[in-house]
Amino acid sequence: MATEQRATCPVRADFDPLSSVFLADPFAVLMSLPSEAPVFYAPSIDYYVVTRYPDIEAVFLDPDSYSAAAAQLPLERLVPEAAEILLAGGHKPQPSMVSLDPPAHARLRSPTVRAFTPGRVADMESRIRRTVEQLLDAVDATAPFDLVPSLAFPLPATIIFSFVGVPEQDWQPLKEWCGHRASLAWGRPKPDEQVHHARNMAAYHGYLRKLVATKATARGDDFASALLAIHDENPEALTLDEISSILYSLTFAGQETTTHLIGNAVRRLLEDPARWDSIVADPQLIPRAVLETLRFDPSVPVWRRVTKRPVTLGGVALPAGAKLFLWLAASGRDASVFPGPDRFDLNRRNASKALAFGKRIHYCVGAALAKVEAQIALEGLARRFPRLRLVAGQQLSFHANISFRGPQSLWVRPTE
Ligand code: HEM
Repeated sequence: MATEQRATCPVRADFDPLSSVFLADPFAVLMSLPSEAPVFYAPSIDYYVVTRYPDIEAVFLDPDSYSAAAAQLPLERLVPEAAEILLAGGHKPQPSMVSLDPPAHARLRSPTVRAFTPGRVADMESRIRRTVEQLLDAVDATAPFDLVPSLAFPLPATIIFSFVGVPEQDWQPLKEWCGHRASLAWGRPKPDEQVHHARNMAAYHGYLRKLVATKATARGDDFASALLAIHDENPEALTLDEISSILYSLTFAGQETTTHLIGNAVRRLLEDPARWDSIVADPQLIPRAVLETLRFDPSVPVWRRVTKRPVTLGGVALPAGAKLFLWLAASGRDASVFPGPDRFDLNRRNASKALAFGKRIHYCVGAALAKVEAQIALEGLARRFPRLRLVAGQQLSFHANISFRGPQSLWVRPTE
């Protein structure tokens, strides 16, 4: 990036989204920023930070000017050993659909959308209800419990893995590989940690290739088999390798995103017990509570793009190749779109306008599934634990990455 081009853009040397201050409370950092600089350069990550709703929306709406190629780039430059392990393990520089631009993107997106039918999602509803009930059955209703391992973490993994068709004995390693993926691409791992994560990612890719090969000869009633049926129609249009890449998208995207949505929703509802009491008294408010959580405290607070050509964004001239940190969480607090943005409001009419799932060509494939999971989880909790409260005095902690955010544990009390 040319220094003179950067000079037209405010620089915030103190902005570091992986600092302990930011991880503890990104909204406090947001509030401390001057409102007249909605786009600024952050040397700590070498990204331009975009904070306002209309600017982020404009980026999502214009794939000709903004490439998705930065979406999964390791934030930290990889050491050669880690890069080689990834390459040898079949990892591509643009590893899946979310970082591909047209026309390559459509090759993966179209069959995904075809196989991800509303009917298949609706079929998952009874499974989600069953899983929520089983998980809550295992909770001791007389003592405080940690919501994350009890419900928020196991539910999305169970749902997405059974949806895709992953055999249950493989769920545990798959969960672990996904954790390595989040740390490698969205965190700031040290060189030895990078190598460790890269080895696990190679194992993850290898597993998915084997799964596709096995399913090719033993189909089931699942998403992977539905993709294989599309492959049968024209193997050139959707290769087995591409199916494996689609599974790489879903097995990851369907997990922590939703775990954190549930964790953030319960946290925000219980922060003011009157909110919890409202959804207990009127469960019809639950879908609104989910949407308001996605606006107020989204589980994917940041997504990334890179400019394809020189552009002006938020009044700032940016060169081609400028990496953009689209701060979705900040866009949810934009008062020009959401009046009284710092208030969590169950009656807000336009919470669904939040950009939490992106927009246009990369709009989240799993948005409906994630919302249904969170709604059913909240319904189950509200029914069983109408007097649920947060355990007082707990210090919440958050995994050190830029894009997946929710409490790592959340202690709640079933009764007052
Ligand atoms: C609360 C939960 C979730 C959130 C906040 C979320 C958020 C996002 C975001 C921000 C994007 C990128 C949009 C863009 O680049 O314009 C995305 C894409 C995607 N999401 Fe989600 N997601 C969630 C759950 C899920 C689930 C459950 C699945 C799978 C079942 C899923 C699958 C995908 C896929 C495949 C893409 C890539 C779409 C494409 O590139 O065309 N997501 N999601």
